[in-house]
Amino acid sequence: MQDFTGKTAIITGAAGGIGRATARLLAENGASVVVADLQDSVEDTAALIRDAGGHARAVVTDCATDAGAKAFVAAALEETGRIDILFANAGITGGLLPRLDTPSEDFMEVMRINLLGPWVAIREALPQMKAGGAIICTASVAGLRAGAGPIPYSASKAGVINLVQSLAMALSGRGIRINGVAPGLIETPMTAPLYDAARAKGREGKIGQLNPLRRGGQPEEVAEAVLWLASDAASYVQGQVLSVDGGLSAQLPFTPKWSS
Ligand SMILES: NC(=O)c1ccc[n+]([C@@H]2O[C@H](COP(=O)([O-])OP(=O)(O)OC[C@H]3O[C@@H](n4cnc5c(N)ncnc54)[C@H](O)[C@@H]3O)[C@@H](O)[C@H]2O)c1
Repeated sequence: MQDFTGKTAIITGAAGGIGRATARLLAENGASVVVADLQDSVEDTAALIRDAGGHARAVVTDCATDAGAKAFVAAALEETGRIDILFANAGITGGLLPRLDTPSEDFMEVMRINLLGPWVAIREALPQMKAGGAIICTASVAGLRAGAGPIPYSASKAGVINLVQSLAMALSGRGIRINGVAPGLIETPMTAPLYDAARAKGREGKIGQLNPLRRGGQPEEVAEAVLWLASDAASYVQGQVLSVDGGLSAQLPFTPKWSS
């Protein structure tokens, strides 16, 4: 594992799930972290890190607003005077079912949080980042192809993938890397309704059966990928989106009879 001592990381959407797991892992590996979220429970994330001997500050804000992004950037600068890593991770599904009648305002709210959110975070943090800095955005396998999420959510995550690619080009020559992770099904507060429903029906064993590893993932497994992308070990990786999905996005939807 890389040593992040002396580095400062901002993590959005860190009240739980992938954001909290990543903040904890970065802090365990020496980073000072600023964790931001709409929910007050982001304070618990910071407290967990401090209790474990790490350095963390929480910012309760809407991360998809200019004011919110300015607030977490200011907090990082107040704490350590630098920003080395930005993990733009906050997101919502806007409902788990595919619908053909989604009202415009609901569609745009998903776009605002999932796509504008990373943009404002990056725009505000970039002027404070130096060569060697790393930005990671949370996309989703739902942004790669259809069938893994609701329509506005999938479209917003496809946008995140292109945001990563477009910014990689725009950052040419600056020594700042930008990449993304595309999680598959991960057990977090976002997917809790699905997990709860499966458990209630005694069908927990069915979760994740569509992917070759045949299980759902844990937030820590995504956090490990984020840390690698943030680290010098990924020093020549730019503009890529790494799927962390048990192999879901590697396959076509045929049942491989030979492997059952
Ligand atoms: N869990 C999965 O299966 C899965 C799969 C693919 C992608 N993702 C993505 O991973 C990211 C993290 O999700 P998670 O699964 O850990 O679920 P989560 O619900 O625990 O995390 C999302 C966090 O974002 C916060 N948030 C939402 N809107 C916000 C806003 N405007 N400002 C600040 N914070 C806001 C929420 O309060 C929440 O804490 C999301 O972008 C999600 O789309 C999750």
